[in-house]
Formats: sequence, structure tokens, C-alpha cells
Amino acid sequence: MRIGPYQLENNVIVAPMAGITDRPFRQLCRRLGAGLAVSEMLSSNPKVWKTDKSMNRMDHSGESGIRSVQIAGADPELMAQAAQFNVQNGAQIIDINMGCPAKKVNKKLAGSALLQYPDLVEEIVQAVVGAVNVPVTLKIRTGWDPDNRNGVEIAKIAERNRIASLAVHGRTRACMYKGEAEYDTIKAIKQSVSIPVVANGDITSPEKAKQVLDYTGADAIMIGRAAQGRPWIFREIDYYLRTGKHLPAPEISEVRGILMEHLLNLHQFYGEPMGARIARKHVSWYLQSHDQEGQFRRVFNALEQPEAQIEALENYFETLAAN
Ligand SMILES: Cc1cc2nc3c(=O)[nH]c(=O)nc-3n(C[C@H](O)[C@H](O)[C@H](O)COP(=O)(O)O)c2cc1C
Repeated sequence: MRIGPYQLENNVIVAPMAGITDRPFRQLCRRLGAGLAVSEMLSSNPKVWKTDKSMNRMDHSGESGIRSVQIAGADPELMAQAAQFNVQNGAQIIDINMGCPAKKVNKKLAGSALLQYPDLVEEIVQAVVGAVNVPVTLKIRTGWDPDNRNGVEIAKIAERNRIASLAVHGRTRACMYKGEAEYDTIKAIKQSVSIPVVANGDITSPEKAKQVLDYTGADAIMIGRAAQGRPWIFREIDYYLRTGKHLPAPEISEVRGILMEHLLNLHQFYGEPMGARIARKHVSWYLQSHDQEGQFRRVFNALEQPEAQIEALENYFETLAAN
């Protein structure tokens, strides 16, 4: 899979997830086999760029691999400026968010609500592509509701305006995250354009990844929620796609190593008190299958200090190993 001048190491991509795909998580997913990791969305409104939240989202220092930065907004001029700003800040790919159904984004008409206005979509895409000399990618849903799946129309707009690749989440905006993703529209999109298409939505296993790739003919797949607490899913899928065989599940000692590395990186990246707070949801995802009653997680979630979190997890894994 190529995006402009960039050849990806494989075709398994980390989906952008606000509040989750921060620098520590992207780095971890890349190390564990993802071919590309897209950053959390950044608003195109310059008034918020100086907030802690945006500053953290813009932090790519020391990040290895290709830096793909997502921007969200509805004003073509502001989107163009945001793209330029992020390229100056190290972005090697600009990704436009037209896939997010979140109210906060859509209240200001952005994300997947834009799919209702193909003319505006075209203006935004033209403005962004014209503003930067790096590849611009686009992420969409299949349409804005099940009666208006206009993904093919949007894909053609993308193609004629030099979008370098198109990621499609197999739900409409109205579907939010309900029901199951459908892949027929993604297949139709792939058949109607010649730019690379990335299939996204409900891919949770190596077999599903292969089914979706085979069915849609997509060039790559993108994984979001299934990577939460399971960042090794990327190497598992990549290995299966290459060999048709399964990698063994990681040993508990490896899970421990990965989780402790992730935790320390979160503490370091966000500082106090944010690091410890953000770590809670990740730890909870990692331990879901081990701590089924949620007993340890309840205790862990009450801890405020990074040192206390580290100690609690070390004790937890020692007890697991002893049993
Ligand atoms: C917590 C969360 C945050 C998300 N944030 C973004 C975002 O910032 N930009 C975006 O394009 N999509 C966002 N998404 C959508 C995902 O990129 C992806 O399209 C969706 O989760 C479907 O893929 P999955 O079934 O593999 O999770 C988000 C999804 C979740 C669950």
C-alpha cells in the first residue's frame, strides 16, 4: 500500500481515535506491527491550538514511522491553514476527518455530517490538497444515513481532487456505532475509483481482516476499538495475511511488559495528574480478560499517583504468575 511517496510496511493501519491514539499508543501499535498509525483529530479552529489537549495531540517528538495527522472542520480556508500548520509541525500526511459522528464535532458541522454537502466536501478537499505539498488522505463513513449512502459520490470527489487514499468506515453517520458495519458500500467504492481504499469497521480478528479484504477488494484495513488493550493485534493480523497461519497469543509475561511500557509512556507524556487518569481506561482494556470480575480494576481506578499505579500493577502480575 502506497500513500503518495510513502510505501507502508504493511496494510494494517491504526484508526484515529480521539482520546486514545496519542503518541504513546501510536508508537506501541507501530512497534507491534501496524503499518501506519493516524493521530487523533485536531480541530481546524486555531483558537484551540494552544490548549493542553491540542498541544498533546500535536506532539510528535521522537515519533518513528510516517506521521499522519488528522484535522477536522468545515471551513475550507481554516482547514487549509490547519493543514499547513500541521505540516510545519512535522506532519507527513494530512488526513481529513469526515467520519466522526461525535456531537461536539458535528455541532459545528464537521466530521461525517459533511457528507450531506458534497459541494462543501469538494471545496474542503480542494483547499487542503492545494495548501500543502504532502499527500492528503480522507476518512469517511458510507453516507449520512442508511437511505443516503453516498460514499461512491464522495469517493469520486476525492479521486478527482487528488486525495491519496480513502478510508471508509462501513457505517453511516446515523448508525453511530450501532449494528454491524457493512462492507457492500466499501466494495462499491473500491470498484468505482482507482485511488487506494482502506476498509474500516468491526475488524476484530485475523480471519475477519482477510474476509473484509477479500470481499471489498480494499488495499488495506484500519482497526480501531479492537486494538484497545490489544495492540499486538496488528502483528497477529499482518502475520495471518502473509502466511495464513496464526501467531500464538502473547504470554502473560509479554502482556505485562507491554502494559508497563505503555503505562510509563503515558505517565511521561501527559505528566501529573493526567497521565495516571488516562492510563486507567487502557489498563482496564488490557486486563478485561484476566480480571473478569473487575476487582483489581476498581482498586486501580482509585489510584491517583503514577508510582501507586506501577506498584499495584506489578503486584497484580506477580500474583497472576504465582497462581
Ligand atoms: C473513542 C473513539 C474515538 C474516535 N475518534 C475518531 C477521530 O478522532 N477521528 C476519526 O476519523 N474517527 C474516530 N473514531 C472512529 C474510528 O476511527 C473508526 O472509524 C471506528 O471506531 C470504526 O472502526 P473499529 O470498528 O475498528 O473501531 C473514533 C472511534 C472511537 C471508538
